[in-house]
Amino acid sequence: MRLPFIAGNWKMFKSSGEVVAFAEEFKKLYNVTGIKVAICAPFVYLVLLKNLFSGTPIKVGAQNVHFADEGAYTGEISVAMLQDIGVDCCIVGHSERREYFGETDKTVNLKLKKLENTEITPILCVGEKGDARDKGKEVMVVDRQVKEALKGIESDSVKKLVIAYEPVWAIGTGRTATPEQAQEMCSCIRKIIANLYDYGVARDVTVQYGGSVKPDNAAEIMNQEDIDGGLIGGASLSPESFRNIIDLLGGQRHE
Ligand code: PGA
Repeated sequence: MRLPFIAGNWKMFKSSGEVVAFAEEFKKLYNVTGIKVAICAPFVYLVLLKNLFSGTPIKVGAQNVHFADEGAYTGEISVAMLQDIGVDCCIVGHSERREYFGETDKTVNLKLKKLENTEITPILCVGEKGDARDKGKEVMVVDRQVKEALKGIESDSVKKLVIAYEPVWAIGTGRTATPEQAQEMCSCIRKIIANLYDYGVARDVTVQYGGSVKPDNAAEIMNQEDIDGGLIGGASLSPESFRNIIDLLGGQRHE
């Protein structure tokens, strides 16, 4: 049984005061079970958020990590450092990192290997750009991204992995994929995993959709058979809208 999983991606937003205000409000609103929820925050706020959410089931995630154990890598953060502060999950290969910071399928693979056998759940992001979709090459792009990312990764690790399908043309644009487009690709991702591993692994892997998910479109996207939740950017910045999206995914509410 896959547990629905909603993760917020705060990107490079919020001050420490805003982080505290969000957490206080969100904790008041948060009373659901049967669903996994995480906030992926900038590195500098991870310890703060871990403290603010301690004693709650709300998970805390990083937005990136480096693949080396340690060394002279100015500005980088290692997996051991994330473990040291108890980070629960980590986004890997977000399209903004691929686009602006030289992330490649190769570095994504190295990062997943480094996270393998740790308690940190990777959220592997894949997705095609608009021109690839216009040319009908979206499946080819996602197929390559998934296969390259998972080279050498054991099937037991893939069962615990989260893959977020985020079409680049839908991120921050307000132009969401249709529920059919999202379902089609998420089902395709499971088929790729089934071919690489087996049906059991494909059944267990968590697949999220991301890209302009808002309270008014979340239900129809996330009700699709192969979609287990979402990676939410802009709409995770406000406790109310993030909470609304969680509600729509049908977590059991405890009044
Ligand atoms: P968005 O971002 O919801 O603001 O489109 C999603 C993401 O980049 O993960």
